[in-house]
Amino acid sequence: MTKLFTSYDLSGIPLANRVVMAPMTRTRTPENVPSELTALYYAQRASAGLIVTEGLPISHEGRGYLYTPGLYTDEQTEGWRAVTKAVHDKGGKIFAQLWHVGRMSHVSIQPGNIAPVSAGEVPATGTTVYAIGENGQPGPVAPSVPRALTTDEVRRVTRDFVASARRAIDAGFDGIEVMGANAFLFDQFLSSELNARTDCYGGSIENRMRFLLETVDALADAIGGHRVGVRLSPFGRLYDLKPFDGETETWMQVATALDARELAYVHLNYQPTITAAEVPANFGADFRKAYRGTLIGAGGFTQKLAEAELAKGDLDLIAFGSAYIANPDLVERMRNGWPLATADQSTFYGVIGAKGYTDYPVYDPANEALETA
Ligand SMILES: Cc1cc2nc3c(=O)[nH]c(=O)nc-3n(C[C@H](O)[C@H](O)[C@H](O)COP(=O)(O)O)c2cc1C
Repeated sequence: MTKLFTSYDLSGIPLANRVVMAPMTRTRTPENVPSELTALYYAQRASAGLIVTEGLPISHEGRGYLYTPGLYTDEQTEGWRAVTKAVHDKGGKIFAQLWHVGRMSHVSIQPGNIAPVSAGEVPATGTTVYAIGENGQPGPVAPSVPRALTTDEVRRVTRDFVASARRAIDAGFDGIEVMGANAFLFDQFLSSELNARTDCYGGSIENRMRFLLETVDALADAIGGHRVGVRLSPFGRLYDLKPFDGETETWMQVATALDARELAYVHLNYQPTITAAEVPANFGADFRKAYRGTLIGAGGFTQKLAEAELAKGDLDLIAFGSAYIANPDLVERMRNGWPLATADQSTFYGVIGAKGYTDYPVYDPANEALETA
């Protein structure tokens, strides 16, 4: 019995099915403004029950990668308005993922070329961001040593999120997703290994999650909690994020705190390459007990695994990432048992134009029948 293709009420937003297009940065906008191609790309994928956009920097300071379309200028807002219209015209729903990279940035793309910000001053090592190298050319460079946000600045970042979220609603998005995952700014505050602050945003679990929760609350006040989702990647090890003391306890307290708020959803990213060895066996079920609202799961899902998870009941919606790159009609392909195309990894990022972006065809059973006849 399939559950994946049944409709779902996402806190009042009707979804046609339980398939979510996972957020994916594609670094295809040289001016950091969404283009006609951006609108076409998302509209091609509008049969997903819900699309979550690529991470959209909420401010110049929040940027860590060249060519990522933001949501903090009027021009960007207009660009996104065309995207949401194109998706809505095809019957889809779309949330904007709001992103601040924190220490995952480089002076060359920060305002005034000063240090990027974080909970503290520990740089991410053994990894790169996409910025301007010493040779003056775009490319992968080591993240710069960050500076610690002052207490007042933490609250200013919360206000930056709110301003961006207001733009999102103005641009026609159905809601926003707070990027609380993948080693970016909120993860840098949640980790006791990186956060050695002595103000009310460091120390105890309560203090380390304060920034995330204050931001979620401010967003809910501004646009309504039913339009706010939160993405987390518990036990994530991306971008030099290390294990820390009390990690399970931290994530369970975050789950409980988010449960007390009436939000659109929590989105768990278990990208298997990042987390495999670290996640306690019963964590998914425990998280579900603590967080009783809509839960989206992402990371390594096939159709079969997705159906199994939905049947178990620990997740309500399933997000597919890389499968969406080469299969704009992923829903139709899965529903009909049609084969999936494989994406070309060399065009995941940084290519300007349609190649590997909007040129993946939909599956045509008539053509296929002719070819195989
Ligand atoms: C090209 C690419 C870009 C990604 N960019 C983002 C991003 O901007 N924000 C985010 O939260 N996750 C990002 N992810 C992670 C995906 O949302 C997803 O969690 C991950 O790919 C695992 O799902 P999958 O196994 O179905 O691909 C990205 C993944 C890929 C492949």
